Amino acid sequence: MGNISRLKPILLVFLLFLLSHISITTSTPRYIPVVNIALNCGSDGNLTDEYGRYWIGDKEPSKFAPTEEHSQKSNTSDAPNSPDLGDPVPYETARLSYSQFTYVFPVTPGPIFVRLYFYAVSYSGFDRSLAFFTVKANTKFTFLRNFSASIHADLGDSRHLSKEFCIIIEEDQKLNLTFIPTPSTASSRFFAFVNGIEIVSMPKYLYYSDPEKTSPPYVGQTFRFAIDNNKALEMIHRLNIGGSSISPMGDTGMFREWSDNKYLLSGGVIPRQPNLALKYSAIPNYTAPDDVYRSAITMGPNTTWNLHSNLTWGLPVDPGFNYLVRLHFCEIEPNITMAGERPFIIYIDNKTAEGNADVIMWSGGRDTPVFQDYIVMIQKMGDDQDTSTLFIDLHPGKATNAIYDAILNGVEVFKLSDNNNNLAGPNPPSTLLPPPPPAQQPGSTSKSRKTRFIAIGTGVGLFLALLTLACCLVVWKLRTSKRYSSYYPVSKCWFWSDQNKGKSMRTKASSLPEDLCRQFSLEEIKTATHNFDEELVIGVGGFGKVYKGFIDDGTMVVAIKRLNPESRQGPKEFWKEIEMLSQLRHVHLVSLIGYSNDERELVLVYDYMSNGTLREHLYDTNKDSLPWIRRLEICIGAACGLNYLHTGVKHPIIHRDVKTTNILLDENCVAKVSDFGLSKEGQDDKAVSTLVKGTFGYLDPDYARRRQLTEKSDVYSFGVVLFEVLCARKALNPKLEEEQWNLANWARKCIEKGTMGEIIDSNLMGKIAPECFKVYVDIAESCVRDQGSQRPTMNDVMDKLSFALQLQKEADATKEKVNPDGKETYREVLSFHVSDTTETRRYNNIFSGQGSELDSGTWLTSNNTGMTYPSLDSDIGKCEDVFTDTSNVSKG
Ligand SMILES: *[C@@H]1O[C@H](CO)[C@@H](O)[C@H](O)[C@H]1NC(C)=O
Ligand SMILES: *[C@@H]1O[C@H](CO)[C@@H](O)[C@H](O)[C@H]1NC(C)=O
Ligand SMILES: *[C@@H]1O[C@H](CO)[C@@H](O)[C@H](O)[C@H]1NC(C)=O
Ligand SMILES: *[C@@H]1O[C@H](CO)[C@@H](O)[C@H](O)[C@H]1NC(C)=O
Ligand SMILES: *[C@@H]1O[C@H](CO)[C@@H](O)[C@H](O)[C@H]1NC(C)=O
Ligand SMILES: *[C@@H]1O[C@H](CO)[C@@H](O)[C@H](O)[C@H]1NC(C)=O
Ligand SMILES: *[C@@H]1O[C@H](CO)[C@@H](O)[C@H](O)[C@H]1NC(C)=O
Ligand SMILES: *[C@@H]1O[C@H](CO)[C@@H](O)[C@H](O)[C@H]1NC(C)=O
Ligand SMILES: *[C@@H]1O[C@H](CO)[C@@H](O)[C@H](O)[C@H]1NC(C)=O
Repeated sequence: MGNISRLKPILLVFLLFLLSHISITTSTPRYIPVVNIALNCGSDGNLTDEYGRYWIGDKEPSKFAPTEEHSQKSNTSDAPNSPDLGDPVPYETARLSYSQFTYVFPVTPGPIFVRLYFYAVSYSGFDRSLAFFTVKANTKFTFLRNFSASIHADLGDSRHLSKEFCIIIEEDQKLNLTFIPTPSTASSRFFAFVNGIEIVSMPKYLYYSDPEKTSPPYVGQTFRFAIDNNKALEMIHRLNIGGSSISPMGDTGMFREWSDNKYLLSGGVIPRQPNLALKYSAIPNYTAPDDVYRSAITMGPNTTWNLHSNLTWGLPVDPGFNYLVRLHFCEIEPNITMAGERPFIIYIDNKTAEGNADVIMWSGGRDTPVFQDYIVMIQKMGDDQDTSTLFIDLHPGKATNAIYDAILNGVEVFKLSDNNNNLAGPNPPSTLLPPPPPAQQPGSTSKSRKTRFIAIGTGVGLFLALLTLACCLVVWKLRTSKRYSSYYPVSKCWFWSDQNKGKSMRTKASSLPEDLCRQFSLEEIKTATHNFDEELVIGVGGFGKVYKGFIDDGTMVVAIKRLNPESRQGPKEFWKEIEMLSQLRHVHLVSLIGYSNDERELVLVYDYMSNGTLREHLYDTNKDSLPWIRRLEICIGAACGLNYLHTGVKHPIIHRDVKTTNILLDENCVAKVSDFGLSKEGQDDKAVSTLVKGTFGYLDPDYARRRQLTEKSDVYSFGVVLFEVLCARKALNPKLEEEQWNLANWARKCIEKGTMGEIIDSNLMGKIAPECFKVYVDIAESCVRDQGSQRPTMNDVMDKLSFALQLQKEADATKEKVNPDGKETYREVLSFHVSDTTETRRYNNIFSGQGSELDSGTWLTSNNTGMTYPSLDSDIGKCEDVFTDTSNVSKG
């Protein structure tokens, strides 16, 4: 008794722990499926399962009773009494047959989940070892082939199995599911069975690709891969990383089950924010339950260790299939607030999937869930290999604050149907099988099922309780002693399930050519662009026209750049761009999908950026004016892209033509830097001496003078972009008074005079918080300083812009509290003075003296006097070899 009273405080803590962790979702789900059928096969009544879900029977006269082809009817049977039955619905009864049977479900068109439930035991008259069957959906897709539930079940620790598939139902189509026993052999007759079937609809583009949007990248390749109507998916893993399992009722309305941490191969710590209110601004709120995002695994506080290791998961998969890997992220640690503070590299299947992963950059802020999709092919090495491991490795990147870490909150892995519409893999090899489970002893117990269930329940419950108690104490202890909001160490291999231990199930990684950039035939390109239909021209770029095109039977929208055959300058840059782009991959760079060089036509195929260029959104436009926060986000994105070019790759790449027409916006207004035709690889920090190229108004005067190209030239041009974004005026506009022609110079004068606040975009008047303005103008001003050495790096720019964004958001939040209607504006006069006035600035007006304006914003010079003329149709836009005479340059 004394012991018990001593236990009381612990029990109290335990109860509180349980209460805080068992949240019963009573609110309406975030997604309400149109189709929601739960069929309890072999049952004639309707029953509720342990979660309160209503399952209807499939026995006549149920409207879902299966149809049979043969005279031999299928049988139904109750599962034998067995201690591991667990949840009786839908496992308690089964439909079984030695011949084929089909269920037909009338469903609303659209993507649906099909879940099949199996309880792998022997039923009266049906021996479990003889259940081998195929399951087909709508005749087309093979979900399972020669499937043995018992072999699969014996590998795991439970004889309950469920399989989840996704399929799209077309207009006027029903869903029919056919169960076909494997053909009998001389010695055995096989049968098919099923215990439960669930059909639930899902949001249209939850997993299937939205043709209007960028489809997921194909890891290790440069093209993308759309998941369209012709694919069926099988869910292989769905993990709540760092958290506990989530029952179907805890999902967002689609009854998906999320498992707890498994398959972590390395150590890690678990940050948790159990009551965090999440902001769903980047993805729909039904994507995953909140609890998936409220916990994560990170590497932990030892940066030395982190830099020399990976956070690694090894997920068992069938080889020979493409997989959709969805990684869920949410930055939940209180002191990581800005992009650049926790960048990391994502490797999938030992290939770089993401060179600069940054959760805040993707999501736009802390506590904001986001996910990223990748497609990866898991190669089959030889015919006898039937299991493989999909590795996900995270490695710290270059962080601005010297905290080297990585984070992951959730993972979903789906197998994609192959070209034969097949999803089925082989049964696991029998060599992996543990000794057979003890034989069933029918009638060994006379207790009623219900009481047995409760007894087991309590037993398991008690065990779980003790386990949770232990964990709870550990967490509690650590919580009070450690710096992380809440974490506990996860020991190496802790979650690695036994059957995989020590077994290297993976052979050598695939050796597909690295530079596989999709090659198109001219025919394909012509089909895609309706034979270069002028109607589809979306722009006139560096070396020809850009068309909107449709590839892969119209399922994918792309931008197709056709090299102007007259342009002599083009081909070199064309190959340069292919070479560069196929090696670069970043969320803020436009992705190259492929190219074509048939019949002397040179064509590049890119991701389609549905929102066009940044410039189109700033001035001379009928588009809605971009809000200030959006503009900041776009600038941060573009800065990230450039920073990646400068620092994220082996040899730094200098873009050389940074301008608002080369910053494109995708459907979500995410900025992507484009046009690498002029890019130059720097050689290990040394300046590159080269012919002067670029676009007037954006051209770095230091570079023009000294012809020494460094990353700082891009910084200058980016500074001009920042002013353009703030003022919504052209980089160069000779229609204005002479001193105002060159925006960068004019802005610098205004800053000196303290009148910068007067020349900003009238749409932004009253919208910019003064503290944000100060930081922003400071960055822009520092970028356009005369000497490259006085300018910040792109990384600094990125950070400071993120800081400016943060200041704006904070100010907005404060303002909203004071006047929630949002009508009030920032009244304080925006002013800014250059802090560092000791330096006498010499404004180099070389570019403001000549030339007239061209709409595309690009310029061509005809001679070496510095005179520039707009080039109308060639639109080369580069001023090659203008400054042969340096005296020419320094004048003005
Ligand atoms: C079971 O539920 C279905 C659908 O809700 C209903 O049509 C049927 O009558 C019910 N059957 C029984 C035996 O209650
Ligand atoms: C299946 O049911 C039929 C009657 O519908 C019965 O004749 C047959 O023996 C049953 N088969 C088994 C294996 O129980
Ligand atoms: C199943 O669907 C396919 C295609 O929709 C159809 O050809 C077939 O007849 C259907 N089978 C049954 C039994 O309804
Ligand atoms: C989820 O998002 C939808 C649409 O954005 C919104 O209407 C709904 O209220 C949100 N639900 C919850 C629970 O936040
Ligand atoms: C961090 O990791 C390094 C390398 O493994 C190790 O030598 C060092 O002791 C660790 N530091 C702490 C504080 O654990
Ligand atoms: C978070 O805070 C802890 C202590 O409060 C500190 O040790 C750690 O470095 C911080 N992390 C970051 C990214 O600032
Ligand atoms: C991390 O994983 C990647 C991909 O498998 C591998 O190339 C790299 O060497 C690993 N790094 C460390 C430190 O283990
Ligand atoms: C079905 O699977 C079993 C076990 O994996 C295998 O022995 C058998 O050959 C397979 N049968 C067919 C027809 O594929
Ligand atoms: C792939 O990465 C995993 C985990 O980092 C590692 O165990 C495995 O050896 C790697 N395989 C190859 C072929 O590099």
